[in-house]
Amino acid sequence: MSVHSENKEFKKITTHALLAMKQRGEKISMLTAYDFSMATILDDAGIDILLVGDSASNVMAGHETTLPITLDQMIYHAASVIRAIKRCLVVVDLPFGSYQGNSKEALNSTIRIMKESGAHSVKMEGGEEILDSVKRIISAGVPVMGHLGLTPQSIYKFGTYNVRAKEEEEAEQLLQNARLLEQAGCFSIVLEKIPASLGKRVAEEIKIPIIGIGAGMHVDGQVLVMHDMLGINKEFNPRFLRRYLNMYEQIIDATKHYINDVKSGDFPNEHEQY
Ligand code: KIV
Repeated sequence: MSVHSENKEFKKITTHALLAMKQRGEKISMLTAYDFSMATILDDAGIDILLVGDSASNVMAGHETTLPITLDQMIYHAASVIRAIKRCLVVVDLPFGSYQGNSKEALNSTIRIMKESGAHSVKMEGGEEILDSVKRIISAGVPVMGHLGLTPQSIYKFGTYNVRAKEEEEAEQLLQNARLLEQAGCFSIVLEKIPASLGKRVAEEIKIPIIGIGAGMHVDGQVLVMHDMLGINKEFNPRFLRRYLNMYEQIIDATKHYINDVKSGDFPNEHEQY
């Protein structure tokens, strides 16, 4: 499937395209996005997947955890992102409380996301405990991405944001959950904050694309929260994060410059008025 825009041919990224990328050893790029303007830029830059993450709860709304964001708020962010994109695949997080009850609730929440935002797929945190919901959503025709390792919706159960599955027992459990998600029909799995050696084991055994965030170099692709990657956040400094811009400082500088120009009467000048 392809669309033409300004004489360029953009191939649309599908779940099948992602599988083919894994099979030919091409790494998959993924970032989060929550609004139209940033999604336009990230899609134009050629990102493969945009995740409308429930991290919007942190970086957009200023909450301490991902738990408070609602289904309506996720749909608002997802619809804004969908209006922007031409090429990438858009995955939307099912927020806390919208799927844990039972598989019917999970399907109803997914249907709302798909109908009201136009998204392409959903992501859910968990393994064995959400399998019924995963299967029901996939049998309704919606691709599902899994999420294992550090699952922020369970932060109060874990108690910390430390690396998960360092011990063999938890690593085995994670591997088994990855197998179950693959068998249930997930098109991909995110692994968050686990040892690189475990990321490698999972990516080697599991045939669907494994996308890591703090899961090392051997997985099939990487995802970062856009605000972290662009340096909009100053305070969050985990080892796995590489910053590609220092937007916090750049925006501070630009804003100070603007304030000075306004105060001094330099802005607007005669060319910047009617
Ligand atoms: O919500 C989010 O941003 C995520 C990523 C950390 C994978 O789930």
